[in-house]
Amino acid sequence: MMDHATPDAHVPDAGAELAARTERRWAAISVAIVAVLVVMAGYAGIHQATMPQSQVETADPRTLHLAGEFIESNLGSAVQPDGSVLVRAIGQQYSFTPPCIMVPAATPITFRATSADVVHGFLIPGTVVNTMLVPGYVSSISMRFEAPGEHLMPCHEFCGAGHEGMWGRVKVIDRAEFQRLAADKRRLSCVE
Ligand code: CUA
Repeated sequence: MMDHATPDAHVPDAGAELAARTERRWAAISVAIVAVLVVMAGYAGIHQATMPQSQVETADPRTLHLAGEFIESNLGSAVQPDGSVLVRAIGQQYSFTPPCIMVPAATPITFRATSADVVHGFLIPGTVVNTMLVPGYVSSISMRFEAPGEHLMPCHEFCGAGHEGMWGRVKVIDRAEFQRLAADKRRLSCVE
């Protein structure tokens, strides 16, 4: 006997209808999220001039200490011919070199940094300085501090067991004082 009920393929199932409606709604939300992100990226790029690095620069982590711009004697802050300041630094498990960076206030500053081992973070909270230090590549970022003061510079990429203890400091001093100190030193830092 074939008396048990068989589902009728021609009658739309209420559950399937609900599922289709829910799916359409989520598809619309996903598209809306993508649209919002595109608008945010466009706004940041055009109005705040944030953009990806214009070129890829490399630095071999195996020979950083032997030759090239990241040898130890070349780390720290140096006044450039145009009056701006160039800071070179390295991140390694679990510290920055130099651990205390000294820069002048009211001066254009360019940070150039890389990693000697794994990926580290390079962040000065409250400023635009927020990048990754990736072994093999040079991270370059420009900044200007208007007033003297001290900033913490925590590593913000998990880099191993000692990550939470990986902190640097940035000391912003008066422009004239910095020029005076820079007069007789090739590279400056605030490491005592
Ligand atoms: Cu270096 Cu976290």
